Amino acid sequence: MHSLFYFVHILSVVSWVPSILAESICDGACQLGTILKPLLPLLSPNASIVYSSSAAPRWSEFDEPTPGAVVNVATEHDVLVTAGGNAWADTFNLGQKDITINLRALNRIEFNQNRTRVTIQGGTIIQELINSAYLNDARVPTGNSNCVGVLGSTLGGGVGRLMGLYGLGIDNLMSLNIVTAQGIALQVDAQKFPDLWWALRGAGANFAIVTSATMKSYPVAKPENGAWTGSLVFAEDKIEALVDSINRLDLQPEMAIFLYYASTGPPNNNPIVLVNPYYIGTTEDGKSAFSTIYSIGPVAEMTAWTPYNETNDGSNPFCVKGGRKPVHSAGLARLHAPTWRAIWNEYVSFLETPGVGNSIILVEGYSMYAARRFSDSSSAYPFRETVNFHAAAMPWYYNSSIDAQALAFGSRVRDLWRSTDGLEQNSTYINFAFDDSPSTVYGENLPKLRELKRIYDSLGQFDQFFPLS
Ligand SMILES: Cc1cc2nc3c(=O)[nH]c(=O)nc-3n(C[C@H](O)[C@H](O)[C@H](O)COP(=O)(O)OP(=O)(O)OC[C@H]3O[C@@H](n4cnc5c(N)ncnc54)[C@H](O)[C@@H]3O)c2cc1C
Ligand SMILES: *[C@@H]1O[C@H](CO)[C@@H](O)[C@H](O)[C@H]1NC(C)=O
Ligand SMILES: *[C@@H]1O[C@H](CO)[C@@H](O)[C@H](O)[C@H]1NC(C)=O
Ligand SMILES: *[C@@H]1O[C@H](CO)[C@@H](O)[C@H](O)[C@H]1NC(C)=O
Ligand SMILES: *[C@@H]1O[C@H](CO)[C@@H](O)[C@H](O)[C@H]1NC(C)=O
Ligand SMILES: *[C@@H]1O[C@H](CO)[C@@H](O)[C@H](O)[C@H]1NC(C)=O
Repeated sequence: MHSLFYFVHILSVVSWVPSILAESICDGACQLGTILKPLLPLLSPNASIVYSSSAAPRWSEFDEPTPGAVVNVATEHDVLVTAGGNAWADTFNLGQKDITINLRALNRIEFNQNRTRVTIQGGTIIQELINSAYLNDARVPTGNSNCVGVLGSTLGGGVGRLMGLYGLGIDNLMSLNIVTAQGIALQVDAQKFPDLWWALRGAGANFAIVTSATMKSYPVAKPENGAWTGSLVFAEDKIEALVDSINRLDLQPEMAIFLYYASTGPPNNNPIVLVNPYYIGTTEDGKSAFSTIYSIGPVAEMTAWTPYNETNDGSNPFCVKGGRKPVHSAGLARLHAPTWRAIWNEYVSFLETPGVGNSIILVEGYSMYAARRFSDSSSAYPFRETVNFHAAAMPWYYNSSIDAQALAFGSRVRDLWRSTDGLEQNSTYINFAFDDSPSTVYGENLPKLRELKRIYDSLGQFDQFFPLS
């Protein structure tokens, strides 16, 4: 057996089965260093092992995972598992005997000659992919924030503003190079290993480490490669009209729309209502597509046609790492105006707490036409047929003494959404979920996923992100 596979196997064992195997290896008094040091020479020269979780700062420090060691891999062979470090899920349960594998250095991106295909490594972040796509006169469907891992976000489904044209991120995957729980490297696609292919597209973090992925890419000449977007500011008495209009919009493939409750920030923390329209096309066509929103009467407008490599820049402030951000979220079939009034009242009163001025409420509306060419059972992502909007309450603060208040606020807001979500069951996109149950994130696909988990990861080695074991 090749020595690197041996390494991966040991690493996986130590990493993801702490309660059973690591216990027996370490006999209760585990010194990770003793186990890992001999392995260092097997890694490529630029890889490293750091015995402190602070080596990998995360987007939210609320209940963040604190492994005993972080392995920074440098080649696909060194293998991995934590790309951009953004997930806020409350299901991480790493202890001092556990390891995080940091893929961040695996960020190579290669387009084929006619730009219909791109291969990206497992640690690539969205900004790197978009910049490269723009230089290559192409688009690749990704999420909307530059700092997020391409694979981390895609493996849960992959929602973003190119969805209306091209479908979910998982709909654009062509093949995946993975390392399994047994430490075996495989190439997986719709023909080879169809079960794994199904499970990886929606529940990926539970089934394998993806070292690289080949995705569809769409050639677009530079002058057309961009979108009209920005913010419209509204007075709070327009909330009902806005919510009703957004709910009624028949979002065409070129369109997406976000509604935010935000604050002007310290010292006043005045709450404001913002709408971010997005249109893949000209400014004129964009304004016309959103004419029902304009007719409500924004008090200020900051919109512009923006090249593709800058369309995500508006969300850069949300990318800031650190602080405490326990996000509660809910998928919705529809928006209900009285619910949004009640949530406004919750938000305004939460903002009175000192130190929470960066907190926001948001809802994202995407055109679902392309995603609905496939059914909920076509992949592990279970909500493309029912969910039209993704809503999130994001408290953001720095003092843990606010935790209880922030959690109560987020939970109340989520209950309000769910009380009028127009859905038969709680349905939260796994990548936006927090303390949610397996059935809330996996929906009707849960039984099949559990069955596949028993086959492909029987020891539950990948059990940190909404576990299936
Ligand atoms: C500011 C912000 C904006 C966001 N915007 C969007 C958006 O527009 N669309 C969207 O769909 N989501 C979005 N998300 C949610 C995002 O998809 C999740 O937070 C996701 O889990 C982040 O992945 P990561 O790799 O950055 O984080 P990490 O914490 O590194 O990874 C999250 C999980 O995925 C696993 N993982 C990561 N890479 C791999 C890999 N290569 N192979 C196997 N498992 C892997 C990790 O092990 C971990 O369990 C956003 C999040 C933030 C913080
Ligand atoms: C290690 O990193 C350095 C600096 O980034 C780089 O120049 C070198 O090529 C890398 N070595 C290998 C073997 O990848
Ligand atoms: C692009 O190139 C690939 C080979 O890399 C080929 O299979 C495909 O048919 C080409 N597509 C177009 C539209 O030219
Ligand atoms: C986007 O690309 C243009 C070149 O067309 C470049 O001038 C600009 O700096 C890029 N923007 C960012 C944020 O990289
Ligand atoms: C956090 O809040 C508590 C309670 O209000 C206060 O006593 C403490 O000084 C604060 N800590 C910081 C670092 O501001
Ligand atoms: C849905 O979630 C709410 C909390 O937001 C919870 O009270 C309710 O019991 C859940 N419903 C189901 C069917 O799980």
